[in-house]
Amino acid sequence: MKAAVIEAHGGVENIVYREFPDPEVRPGDVLVRVKACGLNHFDIFVRRGIPGLPVKLPFISGGDIAGTVAAVGAGVEGFEIGDAVLVDPMTDEGMVGEEVQGGMAELVRVQHQFVISLDRRLSFERAACVPANFGTANRMLHANGGLQKDDLLLVLGASGGVGTATVQLARAHGARVIACAGSDEKCARLQQLGADYTINYSREDFSRQAWAISGKKGVDVCVNFTGGETWVPSLRALKRYGKLLTCGATAGFDPREDIRYIWQRELRIIGSNGYLKEDVEQGMRGVAEGRLALPEIRTFPMSKLAEAESLMEARDFFGKIVLIPD
Ligand SMILES: NC(=O)c1ccc[n+]([C@@H]2O[C@H](COP(=O)([O-])OP(=O)(O)OC[C@H]3O[C@@H](n4cnc5c(N)ncnc54)[C@H](OP(=O)(O)O)[C@@H]3O)[C@@H](O)[C@H]2O)c1
Repeated sequence: MKAAVIEAHGGVENIVYREFPDPEVRPGDVLVRVKACGLNHFDIFVRRGIPGLPVKLPFISGGDIAGTVAAVGAGVEGFEIGDAVLVDPMTDEGMVGEEVQGGMAELVRVQHQFVISLDRRLSFERAACVPANFGTANRMLHANGGLQKDDLLLVLGASGGVGTATVQLARAHGARVIACAGSDEKCARLQQLGADYTINYSREDFSRQAWAISGKKGVDVCVNFTGGETWVPSLRALKRYGKLLTCGATAGFDPREDIRYIWQRELRIIGSNGYLKEDVEQGMRGVAEGRLALPEIRTFPMSKLAEAESLMEARDFFGKIVLIPD
């Protein structure tokens, strides 16, 4: 098969689109012919190399996979060759595209219990935007965050994959959303996606703006998977008993801390990692039924994965980037 292979950790020049051995189909597996694979920020972290989380090189990233069944392993029932499917990447063997070989390829092998029948109201491209983004956002907001109807929610990095899904799920639950993004254009698109308020944090102090929007009471919830310099201003924007929900640290995992906000306001800092298959299925249904909107999708041929990752690294995109096998 052809695959976009990470040959060594480092820059995008280490991604080579080339022949790679087909995955070996073992008992209990489904072999998926990839039709679309959504790009996520963790694909960039995998390629750069995550300290303490080594992958065995050469490696193929990509966990958000939609495609058709190409083969079924011994003992697998309920799937026929040609069925349209979506992959839940959080498998028992590890995360697809982070710990086991991923979907930036023509074929990928997945344990059958993590293969979901695709709701055919969704195209492969749209389906490939769902698993990590809606799965993670669902777990952060609902399973772990206990989001309440009428909560005022501040979302950083709202213009990307997890961010746009967070905005959608929060609005669908009846929360009011203040969405932060790095340009006026991204803010305008977030308004079209349903954000109640937007803040361009490249030129405005988002913490002060959110404080003002909340009527100087503070926001109920802040979603911050950015970290870095945004961490302390996020704590400062929260009300007494407010919650900070995090699932990552795109801009830095060891920010300056200010513990005063945490004790004085009795804040809750709640982490989320991964999601359950039900979170993915709920996201898929919500998008298929039109209750949850997807952001703009930009597609690239898989052979141009390096170019697509460069755009994501430069924050020069809105919403989702999806790779399609050449
Ligand atoms: N733990 C989990 O289970 C889990 C699952 C999924 C994702 N994550 C994490 O969640 C984070 C977001 O993932 P994603 O796939 O949604 O990423 P993404 O699509 O690239 O979106 C991230 C957004 O953050 C903003 N941003 C702020 N500072 C940035 C910086 N220094 N570098 C890059 N972007 C920056 C950018 O928007 P602006 O330019 O508008 O500011 C960008 O659109 C990542 O850290 C990822 O690893 C964790």
